[in-house]
Amino acid sequence: MDVYEAMRKRCSVRLFRDKPIEEDKLLRVLEAGRISPSARNDQARKFVVVRDAKLRAALAASTEQPFVGGAPVVIAVVSTEPNRKMHCGVESGPVDCAIAADHMTLAAVAEGLGACWVGHFDQDVCRKVLGVPESAMIIGLLPMGYPAPGAEAPKIRPRKPINQIVCNDRFTA
Ligand SMILES: Cc1cc2nc3c(=O)[nH]c(=O)nc-3n(C[C@H](O)[C@H](O)[C@H](O)COP(=O)(O)O)c2cc1C
Repeated sequence: MDVYEAMRKRCSVRLFRDKPIEEDKLLRVLEAGRISPSARNDQARKFVVVRDAKLRAALAASTEQPFVGGAPVVIAVVSTEPNRKMHCGVESGPVDCAIAADHMTLAAVAEGLGACWVGHFDQDVCRKVLGVPESAMIIGLLPMGYPAPGAEAPKIRPRKPINQIVCNDRFTA
């Protein structure tokens, strides 16, 4: 599957089959995150792979989204230097983690898996559940697994037309 096909096929999957992810597939997904770029090549991030059902349930409770606990794996993408800024004033930690997460979600599609970025979670609770220190920040949770039948059926995923998001030469509102 080429990258364009993976991008087209990717959608948020919130319902999973009761089937574990094979370790070799999971490793390829994590490898996609590992090789993704980061500012100054800092690589100041960790991927916490949560397989334990009790831990997944605790994470899910903190998201108030039960589907999170229904995934066989939840990957917590953690920035270990969340406050570091680039020269432009933008924090590189969340940016680097978002790039890694996107690489992983596209790799998941190529592996026949599905995932959903979850940003609605309680930072403190999830830190405690996973043993993440205060100095680090969980940027996103990625529940991942085999999509249940119908879970990938494209609902309406409207996107703005290109002429509303692309400006030429100068920013236009
Ligand atoms: C940063 C971010 C945070 C998100 N948080 C959640 C979330 O907490 N729960 C959820 O169900 N979906 C979440 N989503 C998924 C979006 O709702 C979804 O990507 C969007 O509606 C577009 O649909 P699509 O992913 O199927 O293309 C999040 C997506 C992003 C990028």
